[in-house]
Amino acid sequence: MKRLKTTVEFLKIAKQRKQLPGAWKRWHWLEELVKGHDLRLGAEIGVKAGRNLFYLLDTCPRLVMYGIDLWEPQPNNPGPQNYVNWHLEKAYDQVLRDSKAYGDRVIIWKGWSHEVASQLDDGIFDFVFIDADHRYEQVKNDILSWKGKVKPKGFLCGHDTHFPGVHSALLELYPDYIEVGTDHCWYVRMPGDESRERAIDSA
Ligand SMILES: C[S@@+](CC[C@H](N)C(=O)[O-])C[C@H]1O[C@@H](n2cnc3c(N)ncnc32)[C@H](O)[C@@H]1O
Repeated sequence: MKRLKTTVEFLKIAKQRKQLPGAWKRWHWLEELVKGHDLRLGAEIGVKAGRNLFYLLDTCPRLVMYGIDLWEPQPNNPGPQNYVNWHLEKAYDQVLRDSKAYGDRVIIWKGWSHEVASQLDDGIFDFVFIDADHRYEQVKNDILSWKGKVKPKGFLCGHDTHFPGVHSALLELYPDYIEVGTDHCWYVRMPGDESRERAIDSA
């Protein structure tokens, strides 16, 4: 497996592509991650209108993605995380319409993130990208619900480390998380399957 690119390398690529570093978004970093490690199955938790999801499906032809979102207002939540003026019904219709072009390469799943996670097997995803509710308890819940779904040596990652809730949850659960330097993304590399590796070594 290749090592991950550093921020300096990302900035070099951005310059070659004549993109301003500020225009280097989460989907550009994820595209590099997917291509650099030949990742085949991913999940995005929090899809909204599918900007990130469809960019990845367009640029990474071998990738299959699960797109998971509640796509409903949550009026009892405080502040912008109540999604009241987010037009999520419209976003969901658009995602359903746009996803038709990708056939079996995309699975759209409407529901609470932790409930969806509980219905999936462990260790199936090459990467999971968490970008749903950014409050501390909710980010923590998402990380705890989804980390087991990632394969050994896969990537648990997400967006918006500059949100206090995201930052606090990461510091508590993964104090050694990597800050990517692109659009406030973060990642953690899952440990390898030690027992399997030991069996291969002694064979
Ligand atoms: C920041 S937006 C996602 C943006 C998207 N990742 C992108 O890059 O374009 C957050 C989304 O998370 C969804 N969401 C929030 N809390 C959720 C939960 N507990 N379960 C499922 N989806 C949730 C919201 O409905 C909203 O569409």
